[in-house]
Amino acid sequence: MNARELQAALRDLPLGGLRFFESIGSTNDEALAWASQKASDLSVVIADEQTSGRGRLGRKWFTPPQTALAFSLILRPTADEIKYPARVTGLGALALADAISTLGLHAQIKWPNDVLLSGKKVAGILVESVWMGDAPDTFVLGMGINVLASSVPPTDQVLFPATSVETESGQRIDRVALLHDVLPSLIAWRPKLGTDEFIKTWESLLAFRGKEIQLTKENEQPLSGELIGLEPDGSLQLKVNNNFLTVQIGEIHLRPSV
Ligand code: BTN
Repeated sequence: MNARELQAALRDLPLGGLRFFESIGSTNDEALAWASQKASDLSVVIADEQTSGRGRLGRKWFTPPQTALAFSLILRPTADEIKYPARVTGLGALALADAISTLGLHAQIKWPNDVLLSGKKVAGILVESVWMGDAPDTFVLGMGINVLASSVPPTDQVLFPATSVETESGQRIDRVALLHDVLPSLIAWRPKLGTDEFIKTWESLLAFRGKEIQLTKENEQPLSGELIGLEPDGSLQLKVNNNFLTVQIGEIHLRPSV
C-alpha cells in the first residue's frame, strides 16, 4: 500500500482529500488535526501502520504494518448526523458489514462499535467529534480492520476473541480493494442515516439479539438482561427483570453472559 496506489484506486470516489502515512501514531489524531485546519468533508487519513492506535474507553488498537486497514474519515455533519450523532458509529459498522458481505461473509455488529465474523471481532470503530457550542462541527470516523491473519493481536492482548477477514474468508484479501468496497458503502448509506431503514438494517445485524447478555459499566454493577434492539437514536434496548431499559451509546461494555 502506498499513496500512489491509494490515489489511483480511490479516484472514482468523491473524497475531500487523502493523506497516507506509512507509519503514524493514530489516524484519528491526524484527522482531528486536519479537520481543525479546515479539511473538507470526506477527507480521509490512511496509515499502513499505527504506533499508538486508539480504541474506545482508552484501549489500545494494534495496526501492525502491511497487514491491516486503519483509516479515519472526516465528516462535516449533515442535518441528520447532527440530529442523530450516535448513528455515525452505526454508519461505519453498516458500511463494513456490507463490504464484507460481498465476500460471502455475514458480519454482525456488537453494539455499539465492533464488527464480528463468526462471533469474533474483526474490526472496531472509534467515532470522535468536535463540538461548536451544542452542535457537532466535525466527526472523525476511525475504522481499524484486521485484514490479514497476521494482523490479529495475540489472545492475551485482547478482551474479546479476534479474527481477520482473511481467516474467515479463506481468501487472500487485498487491503486497498477492501477499502474500495467500504468507502462507497459508507458514502451510499450516509444519506439514509436519518431513515427507519438505516436503524432497521443496523438492528438486523446486531449480535446477541434476543439473547441474555451482560452489560458492564465502569464503577457500576453489571446489568444482565435480554438484548431487544435499538432505539431511534442508536441507544440499546434491554429487558431487565421485565423492565425495558435504554442504554446510551458510548458508555457501555457489552459481553455475552455465557
Ligand atoms: C475499538 O474497537 O475500540 C475501536 C478501534 C478503532 C481503531 C481505529 S484504527 C483507525 C483509527 N485510528 C485510531 O487510533 N483508532 C481508529
